[in-house]
Amino acid sequence: MPTMGSKLRAEQIELMAGIIHKERNQSNFIKSLNSLIDLESGKLVNDKLGTDQKAMLKDWRRQAQISLKLPSSFVSEFARLTSESMHVWAMARKENSFLTFAPYLEKIVSMLRKKSDLLGFKDHPYDALLDLYEPGFTTSEIKLLFGKIKKTTTSILLKIAQSKDVECSFLHGNFPKDKLLQFSHLLLESLGYDFDKGRLDLSQHPFSISLHPFDSRITTRIHNDSLFDCISAVLHEGGHSLYEMGLNPEHYGTPLCDAVSLGIHESQSRLWETRIGQSKPFWYHFLPILKTYFPELDPIDLNTFYQAINRVEPSFIRVEADEITYSLHVILRFEIEKQLIEGSLKVSEIPETWNYLMYNYLGIKPSTDAESCLQDIHWSMGAMGYFPTYVLGNVFASQFFEAFAKEHTDWEKRVAEGELGFLRKWLEKNIHSLGKTYSAKDLVKKMTGSSLSEKDYVTYLNKKYQELYGFA
Ligand code: CO
Repeated sequence: MPTMGSKLRAEQIELMAGIIHKERNQSNFIKSLNSLIDLESGKLVNDKLGTDQKAMLKDWRRQAQISLKLPSSFVSEFARLTSESMHVWAMARKENSFLTFAPYLEKIVSMLRKKSDLLGFKDHPYDALLDLYEPGFTTSEIKLLFGKIKKTTTSILLKIAQSKDVECSFLHGNFPKDKLLQFSHLLLESLGYDFDKGRLDLSQHPFSISLHPFDSRITTRIHNDSLFDCISAVLHEGGHSLYEMGLNPEHYGTPLCDAVSLGIHESQSRLWETRIGQSKPFWYHFLPILKTYFPELDPIDLNTFYQAINRVEPSFIRVEADEITYSLHVILRFEIEKQLIEGSLKVSEIPETWNYLMYNYLGIKPSTDAESCLQDIHWSMGAMGYFPTYVLGNVFASQFFEAFAKEHTDWEKRVAEGELGFLRKWLEKNIHSLGKTYSAKDLVKKMTGSSLSEKDYVTYLNKKYQELYGFA
């Protein structure tokens, strides 16, 4: 969209948000819903409904409850504010000026605090916002989980800092765009990505968008000098898209053709990106193929390549972070958001707090706003409570992957032979096709037999990076 178009777009979005909200709160719809499920207590009127119907009603009730609590004037105003703010944020980031964005962010934070009051919460105002993205999770639960992950990752990071650095210069060079795109198509096809139902394009920031299980599109980006940036974006967004393609189209328009939560969505992208795309068996098969596209990689052996794509180094930008520092980037944002929403931190104090935490967790100090608190779009969209789902995605992915590995003890051998369809089918059967039948926590329990826990994730990181860097 051209820059000048953003004001009109903000007005359109404000209007649409108002209309959608009004339709949702329409008394006919609310009455019908209430005749099937008591909106107040959540008790089903007819106990004999099937699992599918129960799940649909439960989610429709949840949506109705949220919608009924928010006045339409609030919804429209928030839609206009955030639409304008995204535009201002993009400008501010270009100009590297937090001061330009700060007045908008102040309005957003104040409206989010109001939103959390309107929605209601038990213990912490952030609970109400977190629940919008990851239903059933609380701030205190996240704090506890993140505390454990922070402990592990900072300790691994310290050990890596004392280890020998890894050679990775061959991942940077002049890689022709068309070759990278051809290889990306090949990767997606081997994952089972159906190009009759999706497509791959280029954009500034990689993303995936799905309109229907038969129309699920992704983008990647090509930094001319970076080989792996494009590959990991393709695997990541491809993972998101496979989830959407695996939903049951028969249930389109209902919660059963909808993803469980943002965290579960992210588990699908991270699973393909990291557990497969950064694994040795995967590159045992794909490195020789990659070399046919980029012969300059010929002298690189599998071990050297595997080490390079898993190299750990603290850096400023979250989306470029390695597996170890990634969680720390997210935890930092969670801590800032939590304080903003509870009112213990002012917007004007964000840059200083950001840099302080960055130095504490990663040992590096950003020197500009663009490489610190202006780097992500989320706050300008009014999306606070969203960031924790990125780490949850890794936690869910690890638990799911352990369950998969238990069932397919020969997975490494099969992946090394270039076979990937069996993983996609397993995910489709156990996660994708179920839509919102189960909550995130229930799904974890159903698939793994245990409750949500950081254990599998932490064990995986410890083992992998111990081997990679050879520390005790
Ligand atoms: Co993602």
